[in-house]
Amino acid sequence: GDEALTDSLGRPLRDLRVSLTDRCNFRCPYCMPSDVFGPEYRFLPPDALMSPDEIAKLVRALVPLGLEKVRLTGGEPLLRREVMDIVQKVAEVPGIRDVAMTTNGSLLTREKAVALKRAGLGRITVSLDALRPDLAARMNGVKFPVSRVLAAVEAADAAGLKPVKVNVVVRRGWNEDEVVAIAERFRGTGVIVRFIEYMDVGTTNGWRMEDVVTADEILRLIGERFPLEALPPRREGEVATRYRYIDGSGEIGVIHSVSRPFCRFCTRLRVTAAGELYTCLFGAHGVSLRPLFDRGASEEDIAAFVADVWRRRRDRYSEIRSENTKAKPKVEMSRIGG
Ligand code: GTP
Ligand code: 5AD
Ligand code: SF4
Ligand code: SF4
Repeated sequence: GDEALTDSLGRPLRDLRVSLTDRCNFRCPYCMPSDVFGPEYRFLPPDALMSPDEIAKLVRALVPLGLEKVRLTGGEPLLRREVMDIVQKVAEVPGIRDVAMTTNGSLLTREKAVALKRAGLGRITVSLDALRPDLAARMNGVKFPVSRVLAAVEAADAAGLKPVKVNVVVRRGWNEDEVVAIAERFRGTGVIVRFIEYMDVGTTNGWRMEDVVTADEILRLIGERFPLEALPPRREGEVATRYRYIDGSGEIGVIHSVSRPFCRFCTRLRVTAAGELYTCLFGAHGVSLRPLFDRGASEEDIAAFVADVWRRRRDRYSEIRSENTKAKPKVEMSRIGG
């Protein structure tokens, strides 16, 4: 294998984010606003999706290029009927040391969490933007009860899918008042909350720079109440910057891709459920693996194809972001999985 594969900015390929479906049962207004993603919206047809075997083949092909970590995303990954099979096939690939999933938690029962663990999933991250029931209901766009999302966090924890993380997208005028309450709710539980700067992903969320609550602001809000200190990164290229409560009651993270971009260390490749490769979350179009899969390409062929895409990669969207770049064509968040 080509262990030294790097892109045109010297970045290795370490992580793969695999979207299992572009569908979601939530309509978070910052991701899938219901006026755009309504009954007429055309989602990917089932026969366009990568099969579990194709996903596993892709993962196996990328290990010799440097891949170590796979995150399963959506839309909502637990809507994919073959999710257990996919987890199992990915988890058994030699060289993959971290298999995780990002989910909205709505379908994550205790039984499902145990089955995912048994299939080989390592850990889980649940998105949760507010604790106040009315606001939480508004932020998921379908009035899904926050109590059931909290139950999903507990189910994941009980099943040993640890450390469980909770993702909070902070959006000005919506939930910045919830930040301290959410931090407080999970202090001392072992659950790691990550507060995420609201990003201009996709083309439908009407993002404005002034809607962003910066990581510094978030840290100030929490730190005033519960003093914090910085922690060293666990690994290079991690998106969250880590902090611990000085009283020892746990850690949090902030994801500052707007105020302090981290493209310099970005080691992530993304693939849509239909098998299109994106070398950036803000990419305009992908490169399809479908022709390779359809002609039964070998792992070596797939590796050579991806290596070629990776070598030419020069993405650094967050470093060049401005009020003007927000209007560029970009893949939808629900298709790329964040
Ligand atoms: P860990 O493996 O636990 O570190 O998870 P993660 O933070 O890599 O993944 P998760 O799906 O939880 O993503 C958290 C947030 O970071 C989401 O808002 C993602 O869209 C965002 N994110 C992840 N990777 C990137 C990236 O490469 N660039 C940017 N700009 N944002 C990213
Ligand atoms: N900005 C930041 N994070 C977002 N997510 C979805 N849309 C956005 C956005 N506009 C988050 C989800 C999920 C993760 C994959 O990305 O809440 O936790
Ligand atoms: Fe669904 Fe996640 Fe997008 Fe919300 S952020 S609509 S839960 S994919
Ligand atoms: Fe990577 Fe693109 Fe995110 Fe920068 S903006 S960190 S290049 S995915």
